[in-house]
Formats: sequence, structure tokens, C-alpha cells
Amino acid sequence: MNDNKWWKNAIIYQIYPKSFKDSNNDGIGDLKGIIEKLDYLSFLGVDAIWLSPIYDSPMEDNGYDVADYFKIAPIFGTMEDMDSLISEAKKRNIRIIMDLVANHTSKEHVWFKEACKSIDNPYHDYFYWSDKPDDKISDFCGSSWEYVESLNLYYYHYFAKGQVDLNWTNPKVRQEIANIINWWLDKGVAGFRMDAIELIGKELDKNIFANGPKIHDYLRELNENSFGKKKDSITVGEGWPTTKIAIEYTNPEHHELDMMFNFDLISHIWKNNDLEKFEPNIPNLIELKKIFARWQNDLKDKGWNTLFWENHDLARCISNFGNDRFYREESAKALAYMLYFQQGTPFIYQGQEIGMINAYYTKLSDYQDIDSINKYQDKVIDKKIVSSSRMLKGLQRGSRDNARTPIPWNDKENAGWNNGATPWLKIIPNYKEINIEKAIANKDSVLYTYKDIFKFRKESEYRDTIINGSYETYLDDDPYIYVYKRSYNDKSFIVVVNYDDDNHELDLNIDVSNIIMSSYKDSPSSTRKVILRPYEAIVYKIK
Ligand code: NOJ
Repeated sequence: MNDNKWWKNAIIYQIYPKSFKDSNNDGIGDLKGIIEKLDYLSFLGVDAIWLSPIYDSPMEDNGYDVADYFKIAPIFGTMEDMDSLISEAKKRNIRIIMDLVANHTSKEHVWFKEACKSIDNPYHDYFYWSDKPDDKISDFCGSSWEYVESLNLYYYHYFAKGQVDLNWTNPKVRQEIANIINWWLDKGVAGFRMDAIELIGKELDKNIFANGPKIHDYLRELNENSFGKKKDSITVGEGWPTTKIAIEYTNPEHHELDMMFNFDLISHIWKNNDLEKFEPNIPNLIELKKIFARWQNDLKDKGWNTLFWENHDLARCISNFGNDRFYREESAKALAYMLYFQQGTPFIYQGQEIGMINAYYTKLSDYQDIDSINKYQDKVIDKKIVSSSRMLKGLQRGSRDNARTPIPWNDKENAGWNNGATPWLKIIPNYKEINIEKAIANKDSVLYTYKDIFKFRKESEYRDTIINGSYETYLDDDPYIYVYKRSYNDKSFIVVVNYDDDNHELDLNIDVSNIIMSSYKDSPSSTRKVILRPYEAIVYKIK
């Protein structure tokens, strides 16, 4: 199955441009800032950058509201900067993956401005309209329908008011998106992360949103008219599929997408009364093992997995799954071992590699994210279903801004992120402790765990085991210890992790030989009746 595809063994690093590096000291990260740091990414072992949107946009949702797909937002730079980013990255064998926001455009996009002129305008049918709005609620609160006085009609938006849903039933819309993709591919980008792609087949009158009946036709058509023509391109879809649905999208014989993000874990976290992600329902280890096994086993030879803990919409993984107060580094390393020896393409999010934790802001005014601000307004002020203090605590757990704080590059002024101008979002207070310079200087830091895992995946004798190997687990009912084995032909290794902040005995009758990698310096060389320390993680070679 597609074994020669470069992305099966690539490390993809997500950059949220607003927060990565501010080169011109205006308080907002930019493309030149990314170029400055390419050598760092190369040192880390990154093969491709997934760039969150940098297109021209009113930034209602930080660029996920595109006003012009062929222009760079002035706050990020110019098209020349984009060209140099592509070519400078290429010199370092790093590819650029764009974020294709094609479920919706900004209401500032010329298509929408035209569409509002009259119902006979050729762009009118690029969007969904109704003269009688129903009770659909948008993802960022409030009605999904917004009135346009000039037409006496309402337009539909799944997300914010400024993010107008494109009508994919219109073949002209589908062609426009193919043109955008081709234009960027011609420029030299490697592919696309496809935002909210599962929604493009929605059927509003039937209340069907994700995975609508036509979605596979649309994606096959798009594949044929655009990225499918470029054989080494990469596409990764954003959606919340079951494994069965993920296979429909990613089976290479279907000619749709290369891979989908797996949000099974996140659905689990969000399944909690009124406050969903703001009072996260963190799975215990036994539940986590089941989720991992489901994706590893179901997709084997039928589709392709993505491996990720974080992105710009989620809390930091150590704050959710680890212990960010007492075992920050140990638990960061344990989480890396748990996931990144599995089968699939690894994605890491900026700052994850140094074990960044949630922002823990204390005031509503510290937040910039539309989702956090609207949800506070909705739950605390409008509906009065939670108290302000409960919601503020909730934001500390689940706000998207937790992962969007500027990257701390060193312990100097403004964490070396810029030269002192006020950043658009507050820098974490603990940047003197957690920063990239410090992580590079300490060979025992979380950063070297990531770097070593990446090297192991790409360069060791286990490269094929990582790409093709089977996934077998042990001690499935153990609430503290996670063990999985990967094997391919005559090469096997086993990963053992103590997912707890206490010591636990491991007693596993497997004949291991030497340790390939471990998170503590002096880990036990056997798996028989040994004590694992908090978050201790070890990879053994199997005889
Ligand atoms: C998913 C993106 O990751 C998120 O940041 C955005 O708000 C929505 N899609 C809408 O584009």
C-alpha cells in the first residue's frame, strides 16, 4: 500500500504563524519569523511544516476566514516572503503544507460581496441562503443564519458570522477550490491540511452536516482535478470520523485523501455536561489503550493514521493528559513514547517539543480567541448556566488560546519572541523555565526525546517496522502501565510506559535485549518484576 510515499515516514510540524516568531516587532508572528527559525526545525528533524492560514483575512478566526486565497495577509508579510519561505524550506528539505479553508470563506471575500448584490449575481449560488432561518446554532454560539438586508435573505454559517459556508453542490465552487489548490501546488507547496473538510457535503434541509452523502464524490472529483495529479502531494483532512469513515476517506483505492486526523480521543474529552472541553473528561489509561488499539488495528492496510496530541484548537497535552505541575518533563516524555512509536504520520504542534503547558490566564481580557470569548458570553452572561469563576477555570483547561501563546525562544525580554512590542497574546509567565534555547542546551530535555524519536523513526534499522509493523499490546487491563510491540519481518521492539505519578511494578515475561531509548537515564534492563518510576518510558529491542 503506497509504501513509497514520503509522508508515511515524515515528521510534520504545525506552525501557528501569529504566535511562532515576530520578526518585525509589531506584536504578531510573521513569515520572516518562520524563515529565521528554519534551521531550528531542521535541527529538530522536521520534514514538513503545516502552516495554519496565512491568506488575506479580517482575522475574525485568526485566518480561518479567508478573504483572498491568492494574497498573503499583510500582518504576516508578502507573497515574496511566502516564496522565500517555500524556497528556503526546500533548501533544508522541508516541505510546506498549506491550510486549505474550503468549507467557508470570509464574508469579506469578493465572492460573498458579489453574492450579496442580487439573487441573479453569478456568485449568489456560491453560498447557502434561506428566507426562513431555522433553529440551527453555530459552533461559536448564536444562530447559524445571518440576515442580509439588501436581499432580505439569511446566509448560513456553521462557524462564526464572518465565516460563510460555501455551497459545494455548485460545481463552480468545486472548480474554484480545485483552481486554488492547483495554483498553490504550482508555487511549490507539498499539499494541504483540509480544514473542516467533513462538512462540505452538508445537506442543511436534512440536518446532515458531517460526512454527507455526496462528500466522497466531491473529494474524488477534487482529487482528480487537483492534488491527485501531483503524485507526491499530501492531503490530511480535518474531521471527527469513526475508523470506518476514516477508511472511506483514506483508502488509497478510493482516491480521496491521504489521511484524516483522528479526534476519537478529543470526542471522549469533550463528552461532559454543559462545559464540554472546558471541564474535560480525560480518559483513563485503559480507555486510552482502547482508542489507540482501535485506530492502529482498524486502519492497518486499509487507510492511514495520523499521530497527534496537540494542535492550535486544543489544550496542551501535558496539561490534559500528563502532570504539568510536578512531572512536566517526565510526563511530556511519556506522552511522546506512548504515541510516536505507533503506525501513522506524526504531527507535532509548535512548543509541544519543549513541553509547553496551558497558559492558565486568570482574566477574561487575557483571551483573544473568538470561541472562548463567545462561549463565556453565551454561558455566563446570556444563558447564565455557569458562574464566571467556573468558566474562567474552564478556559484555563479548554480554551484554544492555551496552545496559541507566543513561542518562548529564550529567557530574555518577551522570551526572545520579538524585541519588546506587546505580543497579541500574553507570553507564558514561566518562559524563563520553558524555552527553546534552554531545551537545546540540556541534552536531557523533552526536546531531545522528540528529536531522538524522529531520528529513530526515520534513520534506524526499525524504519520499516515503524512504517509497516504490526501493533500488539500487553497488560490491557493494567490501569498504569501501557505496553505495545511493533514487529515487521525479523525486527521487533516494545514500548513500555508508566502512565502515572507513582511507582508501579512491571512484570512482563518478554525476552528483551538492550534498551533502545529511555526517558530516565538508568532504566531497568528487564521487564520482569521491575519498578517503573513516575512516567518512566522505555523502548526495548526484542531478541
Ligand atoms: C477548524 C480549525 O482548526 C479551527 O481553528 C477553526 O476555527 C475552524 N475549523 C473553522 O475554520
